[in-house]
Amino acid sequence: TRIAVIFGGRSGEHDVSCKSALSVMQHLDRERYQVVPVRITIDGVWIVGRDEPDTAATLDLDGLLAQTRAEDGTVHPLPISSISQALAALRDVDVAFPCLHGPYGEDGTIQALLELAGLPYLGNGVLASAVSMDKEFTKKILVSEGIEVAPGVVLRHAGETVSEADRERLGLPVFVKPSRAGSSIGVSRVDDWADLPAAVELARRSDPKVLVEAAVPGREVDIGVLEFPDGRVEAGPSLEIRVPDGFGFFDFEAKYTDVGTVFEIPAKLSPEVKAAVEECAVTAFRALDCSGLLRVDFFLRETPDGVVPVINEVNTFPGFTSMSQFPQMWAAAGVGYAELLDVMVETALL
Ligand code: DAL
Ligand code: MG
Repeated sequence: TRIAVIFGGRSGEHDVSCKSALSVMQHLDRERYQVVPVRITIDGVWIVGRDEPDTAATLDLDGLLAQTRAEDGTVHPLPISSISQALAALRDVDVAFPCLHGPYGEDGTIQALLELAGLPYLGNGVLASAVSMDKEFTKKILVSEGIEVAPGVVLRHAGETVSEADRERLGLPVFVKPSRAGSSIGVSRVDDWADLPAAVELARRSDPKVLVEAAVPGREVDIGVLEFPDGRVEAGPSLEIRVPDGFGFFDFEAKYTDVGTVFEIPAKLSPEVKAAVEECAVTAFRALDCSGLLRVDFFLRETPDGVVPVINEVNTFPGFTSMSQFPQMWAAAGVGYAELLDVMVETALL
């Protein structure tokens, strides 16, 4: 099977995508797959590289990027600056793997291009990607399924702020987020309303549409949903995130640097709570019209009557770096990284 791993891309998560792709390419079984690395630069230039299986096992990130560049800095085998040329170069590929996070990768745009080109691809389609990239619309769909989400307001215009009534309703702290971004880029925790304008300004650098959400006190738990080639859609083992002291939340640094963030797999949950979050995760997968995979991120809100799962957000192509949750969760279920990739490819090609 010839597989084009598309990575990098025009989003704030460009580097995270490169790291995800590095892990993916290291784990794709070279007996089964011929890999065509396709790097999209931060400026949107597509570079179709070539597979070098001998180095694949030991590849580091610089090596991966160097693969598409010769020693004198020229790009090889050819720099493809127009998307249609890149697609032409991928004519003989069996399947594309959009190993991209954030806008122009995880938001349905690449998926739409691949649809137009008639190139099969793994993971989520146009609608699921577009809806799930946008936290405003994700929440609307989830609420319509009776799933709880954090209360919040949407700020659409520069200078718009949160009304007094909404400040009362949301309380402090609030979390200020770009509606369409990932990896906590542009996200701030605000403990004093005086700090709101700066937080909104920061979020607006990633997206002019900004969400201000109430904090949901409770444990943070992720579930990885995977679709198998036989059509089964399963929730994997839960993962609890424990961020070290000094971090106001699971921010970019706590996600990607070695600061002592702990993932406990499976999370210690009562059988009732375990069943509730798993059911909720699969409901979200179906409601958002997902295919292939989805990581659903929860807060477990404590009430006098028990725990209520609150969905914080979903990720149609969650991180696949060596530090990321999704591959670790499935490994705990006995589906190792290489097998996980096989499942995703087989499901896509059915
Ligand atoms: N958006 C990042 C890659 C994640 O969800 O893991
Ligand atoms: Mg995300």
